[in-house]
Amino acid sequence: MAGTYTLTIIKPDAFAAGKAGKIIAHLEQQGFRVRAARVMHLSQDQAGEFYAVHRERPFYGSLVKFMTSGPCMPMVLEKDNAVAALRTAIGATDPAQADAGTVRKLYAESKERNAIHASDSDENAEREARFFFAESDVIAAR
Ligand code: CMP
Repeated sequence: MAGTYTLTIIKPDAFAAGKAGKIIAHLEQQGFRVRAARVMHLSQDQAGEFYAVHRERPFYGSLVKFMTSGPCMPMVLEKDNAVAALRTAIGATDPAQADAGTVRKLYAESKERNAIHASDSDENAEREARFFFAESDVIAAR
């Protein structure tokens, strides 16, 4: 999967606000293809494990609470150089700092409630995709 796939999550803020369709359309417009998708309500354990790398950060508890506040939408996206391309497309963590036209500038509420997650490396894309999907769930490009 390295290089051409990444993992994204439309977070509970954006999903609850009915922005999932607009965000997917925005990403498809930029050449991303949805290869796997599901809607799920993360448990405390799942959100805690997914964001375990942030366990020592002051915002960890609040982040887990937010990510378990309602359904979210994990997806595997495909595009050349997918990890870097998606991080550019979504913009900075804080929507106030995000470039115009990015997903977070358009749809995020705050630094925490920031609409969308994107893997930060090919290694994490692989790990995160496997967190949500079996290999057989991912539709290979033809
Ligand atoms: P994400 O890209 O999913 O990675 C970690 C998440 O933690 C981030 O998006 C935000 O939702 C959240 N986050 C990062 N920094 C902060 C912060 N300073 N305060 C609150 N939440 C944060």
